Amino acid sequence: MPEYHADLPLVDLVRRLPSNVPFVGPEALERQRGRAFRVRAGANESSFGISPAVRAAMTAALDNVHCYNDPEGYELRCALAAKHGVDVAEIALGSGIDDLLGLFVRAFAGPGDCAVTSLGAYPTFNYHVAGYGSELKTVPYRDNHEDAPALLDAAASAGASLLYLANPDNPMGTWQRQETLTVLMASIPAHCVLLLDEAYVDLAPPADIPPLDPSNPRVVRLRTFSKVYGMAGSRIGYAIAHRDIVAMLDKIRNHFGVNRIAQSGALAALQDIEFVQDVVRQVAVGRDEYASAAADVGLRAIPSATNFVALDAGSSERAEALMAALLGRDIFVRKPSLAPLDRCVRITVVLPEERKVVIEALRAALRS
Ligand SMILES: Cc1ncc(COP(=O)(O)O)c(C=O)c1O
Repeated sequence: MPEYHADLPLVDLVRRLPSNVPFVGPEALERQRGRAFRVRAGANESSFGISPAVRAAMTAALDNVHCYNDPEGYELRCALAAKHGVDVAEIALGSGIDDLLGLFVRAFAGPGDCAVTSLGAYPTFNYHVAGYGSELKTVPYRDNHEDAPALLDAAASAGASLLYLANPDNPMGTWQRQETLTVLMASIPAHCVLLLDEAYVDLAPPADIPPLDPSNPRVVRLRTFSKVYGMAGSRIGYAIAHRDIVAMLDKIRNHFGVNRIAQSGALAALQDIEFVQDVVRQVAVGRDEYASAAADVGLRAIPSATNFVALDAGSSERAEALMAALLGRDIFVRKPSLAPLDRCVRITVVLPEERKVVIEALRAALRS
């Protein structure tokens, strides 16, 4: 941890934070290596990109980029409300789920509070919990899944104010049955709010996604344009929540934080249903391709409802060696760092021609 100048007026909480960040981006790795990656298969972006209609809308928005964006994002929120059958007052925009997670932690989990998540789960939540000075309690995965009943028990016994669960999950790609989530959502203790991160919801079996009910103030659903809509770099996501919670976010959010180009692109993306359906189909094909390539080389692909596949290498050492071999062949991938998830390497479904490169590198890595 760096030693800050003792006389800088840093708040104590920030002074004591560890200097690690949740992600080292592929750009940073390229700078360190002095070499570009051939394939970006490590950040679960959508290699399928944006639709022509979204490109046209984002390009047209440039004409007014000298004007501030609508801080209420009203048109987009109305379109989202119509898509989900909820009221516009039940939709909050943010610059990605990561931004919204920060707002919810700030609002619900300060110093002296406690938040619950799974050990090794998507790390942005933990980062915000540390940043706002609350305590983090973790629950181990069970059979490659986040353990919803154990998370609920932990939240109840710790008196937690926030419970975070990603469904489908990152880094394992697994998902919960609807019955499990229904029980979880109905049982959230009065002192707690569930943040249900549904970044990959469009890729999950529809029958397993519970209906939305923003009348319940204890459940917040988080969605994003970063995955099947292909807009990760434009930073836009949203929460579907009780109207009082949405109104509360207005007190603390960055009002111009969701930029004009992103808002226009998202609005066009919602209308281009066929494009998204095609991406969903192509991702499913890619997952199957990875699974059979993995089986050919003696690795198990964990069943996934996301745009990536976690390949089980059997041990953390083998997974580390496999990741190093893929990075060495200029394929950007990531792996979980905590046991027992760390025996896996996580590979994003990329374009068909890129998948050939990934699969060839996988075969070569395992031969050597
Ligand atoms: C579970 C999960 N939540 C949130 C995000 C980030 O979403 P956004 O780009 O909307 O911040 C990711 C990205 O990989 C993710 O895997």
